[in-house]
Amino acid sequence: MVNAADPSSEARVLEIATGPGHVAFEFAQKCDEVVGIDITEAPLEIARERKQEQNVKNISFEKGDAEDLSFGDNSFDIVVCRLAFHHFENPGTVLQEMSRICCSEGTVAVDDITVSEFPGRASYQNRFEQLRDPSHVRALPRSELLELFTECNIEVTSVGSDVVVQQVDDWLDLAQTSTSQAETVRDLIEEDANDNLSGTRPFWQGNELYFTQQTTVVVGRPLNELKINK
Ligand SMILES: C[S@@+](CC[C@H](N)C(=O)[O-])C[C@H]1O[C@@H](n2cnc3c(N)ncnc32)[C@H](O)[C@@H]1O
Repeated sequence: MVNAADPSSEARVLEIATGPGHVAFEFAQKCDEVVGIDITEAPLEIARERKQEQNVKNISFEKGDAEDLSFGDNSFDIVVCRLAFHHFENPGTVLQEMSRICCSEGTVAVDDITVSEFPGRASYQNRFEQLRDPSHVRALPRSELLELFTECNIEVTSVGSDVVVQQVDDWLDLAQTSTSQAETVRDLIEEDANDNLSGTRPFWQGNELYFTQQTTVVVGRPLNELKINK
């Protein structure tokens, strides 16, 4: 994420839905000032403890809703969000907010899981992701994420992608999925392994079941409205 945003050392950076602040701390090594916001207090506490332990002076963490940011227009040079868009009820509203608080020559970057362009296959993955973690709302296909950038008047400057291989049992443990839900998720992924239903390409290695998540990072520049020539 930091490489994709390519920050200058004077940059003022905001990370949306920072969780325990992994990305924010990376930016703090390179930039003047970093703020992380999240709607949940518990991960923010972890982030604040780390700030104290490591004596990081140029970082702060605040509670806030990504859909309704308390910062003024043009407040930051870089506004980023990793692995959270699939948790938002209204990702377009969040991206609009990211654009609003970013200065017009600044950088907005979103990195998230993306799903198949085929709606039935996308729904299949979103279904098992949501059964595993009820806070998963909907991961978007890459084309929809790119469309959101244009709708929010952010000109895309780069698009990258990656593949994350998940060992299904470890991935379920991480989310503390209940035993019965975990059983349903495993069944869905096994069915997917047999019938190729989502594009996540599940596979067996010995007795262990794996699947893959596609991630996409989109970087863009918010346009001053007067300069838009649609
Ligand atoms: C999977 S974690 C990602 C944390 C971090 N971005 C990272 O990459 O490690 C998703 C985070 O989104 C936060 N979140 C969900 N909805 C939010 C909202 N409306 N506003 C702010 N944060 C939100 C959650 O509290 C959680 O900390």
